[in-house]
Amino acid sequence: LASIEVDISKVAQGGYMSIKWRGKPLFIKNRTAREIEIESKTPLSSLRDPQTEEQRTVRKEWLVVVGVCTHLGCIPMPDSGDYVGGFFCPCHGSHYDNLGRARKGPAPTNLVVPPYKFLSDKLLFVG
Ligand code: FES
Repeated sequence: LASIEVDISKVAQGGYMSIKWRGKPLFIKNRTAREIEIESKTPLSSLRDPQTEEQRTVRKEWLVVVGVCTHLGCIPMPDSGDYVGGFFCPCHGSHYDNLGRARKGPAPTNLVVPPYKFLSDKLLFVG
């Protein structure tokens, strides 16, 4: 399906859900206050693909990313790696932070944020 509605009401703080969108995994992560705090202190100048929280999220509590590593396309594991609440790709060791930004390893760019919007506090429209 090109566009989907996703019920995010069951995703607890610190948790995530994984669904399929356009044949690819999509991760929807509910960021904790601590995770938000940690990334608010990351200097943009330290990033290889500098993007702010505002550029990466519609509401800062929610991260929506395509679960395809930007190195060679493996599926990264959520809530793994060297960055709190981040993602780790086991294929060649890329680490992403909890905004899905490439931080370590061969991934050249951040995980892709698809077009999406909130239809309500509990319902997301992706596509
Ligand atoms: Fe993810 Fe290479 S495909 S690190």
